[in-house]
Amino acid sequence: MNLASPLDQHRAVASIDPILGLTRADMERVNALILSMAGSNVELIPEIAEHLISSGGKRLRPILTIAAALAFGYEGEGHVKLAASVEFLHTATLLHDDVVDESDLRRGRKTARTIWGNQASVLVGDYLLGQAFKMMVEVGSMRALAILSNASAVIAEGEVWQLSAAKRLTTTEADYMAVIGAKTAALFAAAAEVGPVIAGAGAPMEAAMRDYGLHLGLAFQLVDDVLDYGGSASDLGKNVGDDFREGKITLPVILAHQAGDEAERAFWRGAMEEGRSDDAALAEARLLFDRHGSLEATKARAREHGRLAAQALGALPPSPYRDALEDVVAFSVERIR
Ligand code: IPE
Ligand code: IPE
Ligand code: MG
Ligand code: MG
Repeated sequence: MNLASPLDQHRAVASIDPILGLTRADMERVNALILSMAGSNVELIPEIAEHLISSGGKRLRPILTIAAALAFGYEGEGHVKLAASVEFLHTATLLHDDVVDESDLRRGRKTARTIWGNQASVLVGDYLLGQAFKMMVEVGSMRALAILSNASAVIAEGEVWQLSAAKRLTTTEADYMAVIGAKTAALFAAAAEVGPVIAGAGAPMEAAMRDYGLHLGLAFQLVDDVLDYGGSASDLGKNVGDDFREGKITLPVILAHQAGDEAERAFWRGAMEEGRSDDAALAEARLLFDRHGSLEATKARAREHGRLAAQALGALPPSPYRDALEDVVAFSVERIR
């Protein structure tokens, strides 16, 4: 594959139509619940929450929860509430993450923090977290509550860990994988695991789905970090180059820095550690990635985790759900948005 344009793949992107079809009816209920739980008498809360919620988002994580419950024959109502709570955890982290990352664009719109400010974004994120936990409790599964509350804490740990790794070129690939495992894969894993948990599918199926979610989440974030350099803002609905300007040490940077000669390492120190990260520097970073195949190598790691996610699904009995969950892997690895 030609790495100069790793993301120019509008034709090759895998379809998530099968999983959208299988989860459509329940996802309509999830979306209705999300909107109603974003309500409050304090006007600013629905205003900010709906700004982000109504601008879309792929709803990948709640779709996983719904599909993972239905795949094991779940017939109750709890999956809808858990799915909505999963999306609320995600939405809350996005509100907080855009403050921390000083990002201006999210889901194709100005971020809440650029319209209403950091304080309001943080506080509304907190409100959504609280609402998420209320929904989880209503489901009445202590196991599901334990899994999702643990994920919520681990995500925050991952974001703090990343903050302390920012601007540090001593960050290793293992450090990076641990950070993305926490900040991103933990929620994918929890979203997938609670399905078999509430369906009573048994420990081996819970472990398989957790494994699936974990590797899917790792692949998803690896690709996200490629797209931050190689994607387009109009496809992504987020600005590209944010990670670079922020001095965020993602895998492409780690690999290019490792492979670079002394002059190149000096460039990376200036850019990541000393903030010399204007557009010309970003163009130089892209050249160095091309020279060393850093985006392609990152994508290769994503493919490998995608393969492990698909492999985890091998433990499930064959079903349209299993096939559709496998398509989500291909979509996540080849995605451009
Ligand atoms: C964005 O997640 C945060 C990351 C983990 C990279 P998504 O790409 O799933 O965001 P939305 O919900 O579709 O906007
Ligand atoms: C994902 O990290 C944030 C969380 C999952 C908490 P990023 O900072 O890379 O996500 P984007 O690029 O802002 O969506
Ligand atoms: Mg961010
Ligand atoms: Mg990103």
